Amino acid sequence: MALRLKERLGRKFDEEIRFFKGMMQGPKTVGSIVPTSSITARKMASVVNTHSGLPVLELGPGTGAITKAILGRGVKPENLVAIEYSTDFYEHLLRLYPGVNFINGDAFNLDKTLGELRDQKFDSVISAVPLLNFPMQARIALLESLLDRLPAGRPVVQISYGAVSPIIARPDRYHIQHFDFIVRNIPPAQLWIYRRG
Ligand SMILES: C[S@@+](CC[C@H](N)C(=O)[O-])C[C@H]1O[C@@H](n2cnc3c(N)ncnc32)[C@H](O)[C@@H]1O
Repeated sequence: MALRLKERLGRKFDEEIRFFKGMMQGPKTVGSIVPTSSITARKMASVVNTHSGLPVLELGPGTGAITKAILGRGVKPENLVAIEYSTDFYEHLLRLYPGVNFINGDAFNLDKTLGELRDQKFDSVISAVPLLNFPMQARIALLESLLDRLPAGRPVVQISYGAVSPIIARPDRYHIQHFDFIVRNIPPAQLWIYRRG
């Protein structure tokens, strides 16, 4: 028992060190200070419809806290596609979650990054990419490109750390919902949902 706890603490520490290293190498691309909390990750994953028969798309999995929660919802690894920009995180994720379709690439260039999956429809999108570090036009283009890949009404969930939606309102194009504010996250996190239809 004590050994199990030691192993778990060791793994958590390892993830935080990995995260910190990632942040030192590219603070703009990581955009946070520690991995997403399990409470936040579970809340984000709660939107997945495991009966839709469609895969889930995750953006910016980092150390895999949200990946773990999505798999914990009952999504089979082969039904999860996750795009991670950092090669270091990507290689770590491949070892941690075998069977998940990890892609080492840029979420802002989905057609190229998804390759053969570019025409695939997804059940939902769970995103932790640090949107606030990108220009508004790029954020809107990313959202539109994500919504194009979802059935009408299905959600793009985005974590962010500002008080307002990281993507401006365009009621003619999509609907914005404030999903949750989670204090038990470092830093406290806002969750947003974007849908069409
Ligand atoms: C705030 S961190 C996510 C933390 C993650 N939920 C965790 O618990 O470890 C943002 C992640 O998005 C990734 N990222 C940043 N820009 C990206 C891009 N253009 N495409 C894909 N991933 C990106 C970063 O490398 C980082 O892993």
